[in-house]
Amino acid sequence: MTIRLTWRRLLAGAIGLGLGGLLFVFSGLFNVAATGGHWAVTDWLLHGAMRSSVRTYSLLVEAPPPLDDRALQARGAGHYAEGCAPCHGAPGQPQNPAMQRSTPPPPDFSAGLDEWEPKELFRIVQHGVRYTGMPGWIAPDRHDEIWAMVALLEALPALSPQAYRALADGEMAGRPQGGQGVEAALADCARCHNRDGLGRDGAAFPRLAGLPEDYLLSSLRAFASGDRPSALMQLPVGGLDDAMLQALARHYAAQPAAPQPAGADVPPAMLEVGARIARDGLPAAQLPACLSCHGGAARARNPAWPRLDGQHAAYLEGQLALFRDGQRREPVMRAIGDRLTAGQARAVAAWFATQAETP
Ligand code: HEC
Ligand code: HEC
Ligand code: HEC
Repeated sequence: MTIRLTWRRLLAGAIGLGLGGLLFVFSGLFNVAATGGHWAVTDWLLHGAMRSSVRTYSLLVEAPPPLDDRALQARGAGHYAEGCAPCHGAPGQPQNPAMQRSTPPPPDFSAGLDEWEPKELFRIVQHGVRYTGMPGWIAPDRHDEIWAMVALLEALPALSPQAYRALADGEMAGRPQGGQGVEAALADCARCHNRDGLGRDGAAFPRLAGLPEDYLLSSLRAFASGDRPSALMQLPVGGLDDAMLQALARHYAAQPAAPQPAGADVPPAMLEVGARIARDGLPAAQLPACLSCHGGAARARNPAWPRLDGQHAAYLEGQLALFRDGQRREPVMRAIGDRLTAGQARAVAAWFATQAETP
């Protein structure tokens, strides 16, 4: 007997197959157990789809900053140790064997890392991978943070275990973990900020020493609630209660500020522009003088206003950009960020970095 193929019969066949598939899945016979791993064909399909998708979408990613920058790698490493190593391992720290039992298992980076272009790594880290345990970045618009992670991933295969620990744990490298309460929380903060709040590896981390306690506390609360997006800070404060945040703010406010302002390897003409904006503002652009809020006298009136003297220029400039594009939402500084050009922001940040505490 022959069956003539007509469009109607083909359609009916397709619908029949679809219904049969649905019936199979919802009958409970489809096995979702992870123990057997994926069928080879599923694995091939998922991986192929992942590689093609990453390659295509990475075309939209902006050009990377220079990735062989120690400060950038240190920032990435500090986050990697807590946010990625539990799944992927790290130099000298093989993956937890329990991880091999998830489907698909996370690749073990202590044994090397597949070749990916920096833009492709950016895409994977920013958005994660669907149908796998690979999570997306907590703050996907913080491209600066994602590039820090890509810088670390690029450096990772060449790092010895010691070099990795120094990059990830700073002054806490090699110290026994443990402690309780504030001490335990502080041990985590100190990996990046040091206990004295002066930070490490050049401008990798903002200086906390001597910032007002009220400002430190409101910042920690803003990170914890996600109001100030930063994966690097949201992870460490995520599990802490408000009493702990208060204790940590108290600790860092009590540390003496940086003894020596950053070296002035900045063209004097640029410092002059910065000084003028800080002291007088730019009346034509309706920009108030920064020192009306950030100088010593103003801060004595309002302890919630941060001091900028002696802070890293790169950090200050980066924060002004975050205010400009609305990732930091405090309204006064949003308006100010909007009125500064990129060049002016760089100049005023450089000037503040060279200042000692204004009395
Ligand atoms: C809960 C476990 C988990 C965490 C946490 C995790 N990943 Fe993954 N990651 C995975 C899994 C699973 C895959 C495999 C995806 C696949 O097979 O397509 C993966 C894949 C990757 C890949 C692609 C590697 C390759 O060669 O296919 C990169 C790069 C990566 N992760 C980086 C990171 C970074 C950076 C972090 C931290 C910010 C991180 N991962 C956090 C589970 C995790
Ligand atoms: C993985 C490294 C890392 C760890 C761990 C870490 N921080 Fe941070 N911290 C950063 C980075 C990077 C920034 C800058 C955030 C940004 O750019 O938005 C920051 C910013 C801050 C700020 C805001 C400073 C300012 O001038 O606004 C405070 C306050 C702070 N951290 C306190 C802490 C405390 C307290 C802990 C421990 C619970 C901690 N940090 C743990 C990296 C870290
Ligand atoms: C009217 C008061 C006011 C003026 C004027 C002002 N600021 Fe601010 N600034 C603030 C407040 C309040 C904050 C804290 C914002 C927050 O909590 O997110 C801040 C925060 C900042 C930060 C982030 C500091 C950190 O540690 O993360 C930078 C950078 C900054 N201001 C730069 C400037 C510059 C540059 C100028 C001058 C062009 C300026 N500000 C003028 C009130 C002011």
